[in-house]
Amino acid sequence: MNAIEITGLTKQFTGKRMSKVNALNGLELEIAEGEVFGFLGPNGAGKSTAIKLLMGLLSPTSGKASIMGKDASLTESRRHVGYLPENPAFFDYLSAEEYISFVGLQFMMDTSLLKRRSYDVLKRLELWDARKRPIRGYSKGMVQRVGLAQVLVHDPDVFILDEPMSGLDPIGRALVKDIIIDLKKRGKCVFFSTHITDDVEKVCDRVGVIIKGNLVALDRVENILRSGMEGYIVHLQLSTEDLGSFAGFEAVRRAGSVSEFYVPCSAFNGFMGAVNFSGREVVLVETKRRDLEDFFLSLVTKSQESR
Ligand SMILES: Nc1ncnc2c1ncn2[C@@H]1O[C@H](COP(=O)(O)OP(=O)(O)O)[C@@H](O)[C@H]1O
Ligand SMILES: [Mg+2]
Repeated sequence: MNAIEITGLTKQFTGKRMSKVNALNGLELEIAEGEVFGFLGPNGAGKSTAIKLLMGLLSPTSGKASIMGKDASLTESRRHVGYLPENPAFFDYLSAEEYISFVGLQFMMDTSLLKRRSYDVLKRLELWDARKRPIRGYSKGMVQRVGLAQVLVHDPDVFILDEPMSGLDPIGRALVKDIIIDLKKRGKCVFFSTHITDDVEKVCDRVGVIIKGNLVALDRVENILRSGMEGYIVHLQLSTEDLGSFAGFEAVRRAGSVSEFYVPCSAFNGFMGAVNFSGREVVLVETKRRDLEDFFLSLVTKSQESR
């Protein structure tokens, strides 16, 4: 069974003066159990709309979604889901500890288990020292971490996180990535949105790119990275008379007796054959590729040109 299934999901809002806003157009997605999926798109792309439809907070104009085989319109579908909204707002007169207990009780957790898990998540999210203070006095990053703690406490099977890294400093972001990697190891499904490619590149199995309500790309992260492979930078130890060129290639950079050559993938075997034949020393070979950011930006640019 897939953890999440979305078919033809469409949402049209009525904007100012009855104008129509197509926030989501016929989204099709299947997310497997145990999969970490990055839902990547610029601001206003429709990510939160899709997530709210999944969580039953909005009703679709057409199409449908289900979680663990249960229709998203049913409360039952959310029993095994942890949800982090995009701008979490909590009862801020409660402390983190009280709030986490409140959430655990909503999920009907046994009190001794709740106590143990509450300790674990408050420690893990570095909220332990602040646990008795009201959330009102927390920084933005701490509030975001309370959001993640309440998602983790009842140990659901499916995590739906709307921009879980937003508002966090680099250490906070790294912590969230670690948590997602841990969840993956434990076989959990994580569906999260972001507008930052780096968040996806490090932790996701697959990525879907959404722009203006349309899913414009869907693939395994490793496939995208591999297809972006352009060539190699080969650093060679050369003698002074042939410093600037080798085997018909001009050096792109020189430092002392080492010259760097850009060799496209198609010419790599021939180039290395010439290196072997000449007996020259290879100092370093680097790969040169388009990363996920380049891939994402090219899709965004394409969509702007087609307007
Ligand atoms: N309640 C609403 N009423 C009207 N328009 C909305 C509403 N919610 C979102 N939108 C519009 O739908 C589009 C997608 O928004 P959203 O899903 O929040 O994007 P994202 O989360 O990717 O930044 C935007 O153009 C946004 O202005
Ligand atoms: Mg959003």
